[in-house]
Amino acid sequence: MKIIAGNSNLPLAEAISAEMGLSPAKSTIRRFSDMEIFVEIQENVRGEDVFVIQSTSYPANDNLMELLVVIDALRRGSARRITAVLPYFGYARQDRKPAPRTPISAKLVANMITAAGADRVLTLDLHAGQIQGFFDIPLDNLYAAPVFTRDIKARLHGENNITVVSPDVGGVVRARAVAKRLDADLAIIDKRRERAGVSEVMNIIGDVENRRCILIDDIVDSGGTLCNAAVALKEAGALEVYAYITHGVLSGGAVARITASPLQMLVVTDSIQATEAVKKAHNIEQLTIAQLMAEAIQRISNETSVSSLFD
Ligand code: R5P
Repeated sequence: MKIIAGNSNLPLAEAISAEMGLSPAKSTIRRFSDMEIFVEIQENVRGEDVFVIQSTSYPANDNLMELLVVIDALRRGSARRITAVLPYFGYARQDRKPAPRTPISAKLVANMITAAGADRVLTLDLHAGQIQGFFDIPLDNLYAAPVFTRDIKARLHGENNITVVSPDVGGVVRARAVAKRLDADLAIIDKRRERAGVSEVMNIIGDVENRRCILIDDIVDSGGTLCNAAVALKEAGALEVYAYITHGVLSGGAVARITASPLQMLVVTDSIQATEAVKKAHNIEQLTIAQLMAEAIQRISNETSVSSLFD
């Protein structure tokens, strides 16, 4: 078995490899002067079970292209099986046509990964479960929920007034899974804009007064959804608001918005490499998914059950 580390998140690729007692295979991934990507795998991969670790996070297009070029190099190097490991699967939010003449980019990216030569995909907290069906090759979707619940139990040790909150109706299944693991109550925020140009009304369904609220989501990008939810929960009488969000995209002014918000703590995973601003933020922490990803890779390689990781 071999691990190839793309450039999007080298610390995670190295941590996953270390968990498995391996080092990433020697490879050169560099740029021509016009920024085209050049890849050379410097170890024999003929007949190998190869895992390419690459999040398609910012800069999404460059990281996606790098993944495709690496897969092509492995296919032409006669790897036996190529698994594209995307701790963060970018373009996933464009998973349907919200208006006429718009793309379904998640499907396009699935086609590109398959056409490049991937035999299977391993990812984490896909934005929407149905994206699995965009691939005609096997896809394993892992969940950060066990990593989150371990940390929540340690952080809020002994607290029994916890309410898990979904920041929108679309995230209820994800939040309910965490609430079940914690044996906690569930609340849902129903975001509504009554009229164009009128600010959003946040209707909270469930009991949050005098509760410690934990927001669960898959992506925090601009931080708008998260910070508005935190304000609404505090206004509704929540004692403290925490957030556990798998993918810290955190673009634009997100970090500034979060540090100025009433959020006690935002916890993200290292599916996306933290920027210096994220590392310095007083109320943002990162949890590693290296062990979870390593265990899943090992199970895929050994052809044993991946789903039983979550039993
Ligand atoms: C939406 O469906 C997602 O689950 C996230 O809530 C959303 O992508 C967060 O985006 P932002 O941080 O820009 O509000």
